[in-house]
Amino acid sequence: MNTVDIINQVVLKNKLSKEQIVYFVKEAVSGKIPDYQVAAFLMAVRCQGLSNNNTSILTREMEFSGDVINLSGIKGVKLDKHSTGGVGDKASLIIVPLVAACGGKVAKLSGKGLGHTGGTIDKLESIPGFNTEIDIDKFSEIVNSVGGAIIGATGNLVPADKMFYALRDVTASVESISLIASSIMSKKLASGADAILLDVKCGSGAFMKTPQTAKELAEVMIHIGRDNGKKMAAFITNMDIPLGYNIGNALEVEESIRTLKNIGPEDLTHECVEAAGVMLYLGGKVDSVEAGENRAKQALFDGSAFAKFREIVQAQGGDLSYIDNTTKLLGNKKSYDVVSLESGFINKMDTLEIGMSSVMLKAGRVTKTDKLDYLAGITIYKKTGDKIKKGQKLATLYAQDESLFPAAADRFLKAFVIDSKLDEENIWPLMLHKIV
Ligand code: URA
Repeated sequence: MNTVDIINQVVLKNKLSKEQIVYFVKEAVSGKIPDYQVAAFLMAVRCQGLSNNNTSILTREMEFSGDVINLSGIKGVKLDKHSTGGVGDKASLIIVPLVAACGGKVAKLSGKGLGHTGGTIDKLESIPGFNTEIDIDKFSEIVNSVGGAIIGATGNLVPADKMFYALRDVTASVESISLIASSIMSKKLASGADAILLDVKCGSGAFMKTPQTAKELAEVMIHIGRDNGKKMAAFITNMDIPLGYNIGNALEVEESIRTLKNIGPEDLTHECVEAAGVMLYLGGKVDSVEAGENRAKQALFDGSAFAKFREIVQAQGGDLSYIDNTTKLLGNKKSYDVVSLESGFINKMDTLEIGMSSVMLKAGRVTKTDKLDYLAGITIYKKTGDKIKKGQKLATLYAQDESLFPAAADRFLKAFVIDSKLDEENIWPLMLHKIV
């Protein structure tokens, strides 16, 4: 097998054989193919793409490049959801207990945040005592008894993705549908769930900037999942504005708690109910997505979703006094109001920049080793489409280190475009597309 030939086949847009892909992934991970050839392959894929069939084979080889998680100890259909990442996206914190409260079994493996997007694990770790490093036997036991648990991926899971992602990151080859799909789906397949709901975020705060490319990515991932025997569904949702109003770890847990008590923001509540409806349907708990949505609404209304969240927090070692008293969770921190410099309609929010201003407050990381301020973040009061007056509050920034406020506020303000006339075309619906 010749590596140069494999790269050349991709450059020429010729299909690769299964043997070529198997060889490439194995030899790359074992270090026998040098980094410069792996990087050349990845760049060739970024420029020319791979067929769906080749992407599916690549994903499977990546999945088995390291450990795979065995969830056979969990009884029933094991459900998972994955978001491609966004700003203020705390939906997993709500969906896991919500689905569990309705009888689903949710075994959720999550990651830490990097760059402008937050990570579910960081959010949960803002609850003192919450343990996200539980072994698989204990994890399965909690999912069986409580109905849901959320842990970070440990062990040697998909080393091929770690290697490929590190090279893609420094060679401008992250933004490729085949490579994003194989990266996400190899990890999801290795995580062992039977049914997966994908939430592909779209807009200024997401990898995919347009609904068309987001839909294309969702379709490729669904194809890979179904090819590997998984039940799959996908949402394409609006990340041209942040989800909900709180950004930052403890702040997002607090907003999730309100949502679980049925007093949360409308967009977040709506997305979580729709997601729960689909997951309950995929898990065979209801006969239709609509029936699942109704069941989820009931669980928010009757308090069982919030009660389930408390059970999960308790099972994973979290201190419930922070859940029952969110003032304690939000802690002692400094605040800084950002006011609008002009009057008019908000016609755009650059959500990536808003995410980056929260990173400047230490709510997120620039590099993997950065230390977080769990209390830091932003509460926004106005979103795209809203009217604002000069001097009116747009947001409040929070951090323990107040020296961070001026630069973060400057970046935050620059993310807004305010005009005298409302540009209706800029206002996207929350749910851009659904594939069930
Ligand atoms: N998330 C991933 O896990 N991989 C990508 O390539 C992009 C987003």
